[in-house]
Amino acid sequence: MSRARRKRVAVLISGRGSNLAALIAAAMDPAYPAEIATVIANRAEAPGLAVARDHGLATVALPGRDFADRAAHEQAVEAALAEARADIVCLAGYMRLLGAAFVERWQGRMINIHPSLLPLFAGLDTHARALAAGVRVHGCTVHFVTAEMDAGPIVAQAAVPVLAGDDEPALAARVLAAEHRLYPAALRLVAEGKVRMSGARAVFSGLAEDDATAMLVSPGAG
Ligand code: GAR
Repeated sequence: MSRARRKRVAVLISGRGSNLAALIAAAMDPAYPAEIATVIANRAEAPGLAVARDHGLATVALPGRDFADRAAHEQAVEAALAEARADIVCLAGYMRLLGAAFVERWQGRMINIHPSLLPLFAGLDTHARALAAGVRVHGCTVHFVTAEMDAGPIVAQAAVPVLAGDDEPALAARVLAAEHRLYPAALRLVAEGKVRMSGARAVFSGLAEDDATAMLVSPGAG
């Protein structure tokens, strides 16, 4: 039996690109069901572009200010996605809101990683807000992207403890380490067709009985 074609993934970034690096590392395994077809940044100086280039990946920089409005910018992103023949879009620290038409076109085929256990702490400054709220467990979420920010159906989550001595950088580093494990695991589920979007929920099928992607619990170290 021939192996299914690897899904072509476009990763959209704005900055550092450490989640991009985690996806690239996963895709280096030929048995991984997705390959990184292109990396698109909305900032020409995004350090993640160099991460992509270092791995010989195609990159496209599309700074928002080069376009008249959101629609024009998103048309350019669409063109780059078409050029790369992308099947799936992964947002990895992409800090620009996407318009409803774009989101609609990629519905069920676009995922995002967010640094909190959604629906808690949607939006920015998640680690500071988790510390201020006094939660004992924090983490990250991969979800399908819908028109409402950080509110789409949840694909996978990873939890980390909040430790007594934590400040924002310590907690952020622990969550980021969990992100780097979670995003490749979640993309695998999407690329293998084991999770799909059905209205407000993600629906799973064909998971192994012992599949633990739904909740990766990371130890305190980090
Ligand atoms: C990550 O922590 C990601 O979860 C977050 O930005 C960071 C990007 O880091 N995304 C959001 O806050 C989206 N709302 P990276 O560029 O090193 O992957």
